[in-house]
Amino acid sequence: MQHKGIMLIVFLECFISGHGEADPMRLRAFRCSGRSCNPPVGNLATGRTPITLTTCGQNSTELYCSYPDQSLLHPASHGCGQPRCTKCNANQPDNSHLPADMTDDFFANPVSWWQSAQGVHREEIRLDFETEFYLTHVIAVFKSPRPAAMVLERSQDYGQTWRPYKYFSVNCTATFGLQDDLTEEGSMCTSRYSDAVPCTRGEVIYRALTPSNKIEDPYSPEAQDLLKLTNLRLLLLKRQECPCRGLGLVEKPQRFAHYAIYDLIIRGSCFCNGHAEECELANRTGEVENVVSS
Ligand SMILES: *[C@@H]1O[C@H](CO)[C@@H](O)[C@H](O)[C@H]1NC(C)=O
Ligand SMILES: *[C@@H]1O[C@H](CO)[C@@H](O)[C@H](O)[C@H]1NC(C)=O
Ligand SMILES: *[C@@H]1O[C@H](CO)[C@@H](O)[C@H](O)[C@H]1NC(C)=O
Repeated sequence: MQHKGIMLIVFLECFISGHGEADPMRLRAFRCSGRSCNPPVGNLATGRTPITLTTCGQNSTELYCSYPDQSLLHPASHGCGQPRCTKCNANQPDNSHLPADMTDDFFANPVSWWQSAQGVHREEIRLDFETEFYLTHVIAVFKSPRPAAMVLERSQDYGQTWRPYKYFSVNCTATFGLQDDLTEEGSMCTSRYSDAVPCTRGEVIYRALTPSNKIEDPYSPEAQDLLKLTNLRLLLLKRQECPCRGLGLVEKPQRFAHYAIYDLIIRGSCFCNGHAEECELANRTGEVENVVSS
């Protein structure tokens, strides 16, 4: 179900922008014909490897457990399903869940994921861009329960200073001293994406432009202040357990104590001040097809 939501967003955007995934050939062919330039929107995370603090089994094999994906359970089955326990080791391709697995091809590898080391509460997922981009939205699909508290931040100066885009918490006032945008529209904090349920495939969505902060001119200083970024990071601050836990479980609780993310999708476009003729491909090493470049 959640998966369909994401695909819809991705497809709608392709449809609206009319250029589909930013394909280098199309980028080169694209021309701004006598009007402001609207570079194609693409997934800025594609082909870029996020940096995380930990990875499951980074030093040695770890055992971990998780609940099965509800969407894969038999429709007639109720509840959580039996937890599945297995091992991870970052140095064994068959058992690794590396940061790059969050940003690999979403359609080709829907069940690859990154997983943190066991027991961590504070994690950081950071993406560094080599230049300035415009952000439209961020989607994270968790495999573990979503964090009880989390902050999405961006830098516009290559990581020297950071500012929040959005705070996420089960209780915005208790955690961050902020109003919840479910009760106060436009607040910097929301509880919408912090439920422990669903225990797998819970989504977190951030839209840079919402009805409450609608921007007419995407090249105005206000828009640039909001949308322009050189780095993005997600601070995971507090883990929470799936409420399935304790249902006659024999596995140790710490085996469930990790963060895991299937997909990290960062929609945006290159930044060309409205008068660039096209998006030049940046000079990068290890260049990957379909990378959205500047
Ligand atoms: C892995 O090893 C490094 C270096 O010995 C250590 O600092 C780190 O805490 C270890 N990580 C885990 C998850 O055990
Ligand atoms: C959030 O926390 C505050 C302060 O601890 C408490 O008064 C309030 O009832 C909590 N709200 C919810 C929805 O749990
Ligand atoms: C691209 O990289 C090559 C090799 O590192 C360098 O010689 C060249 O000047 C770079 N071009 C641009 C436009 O930065």
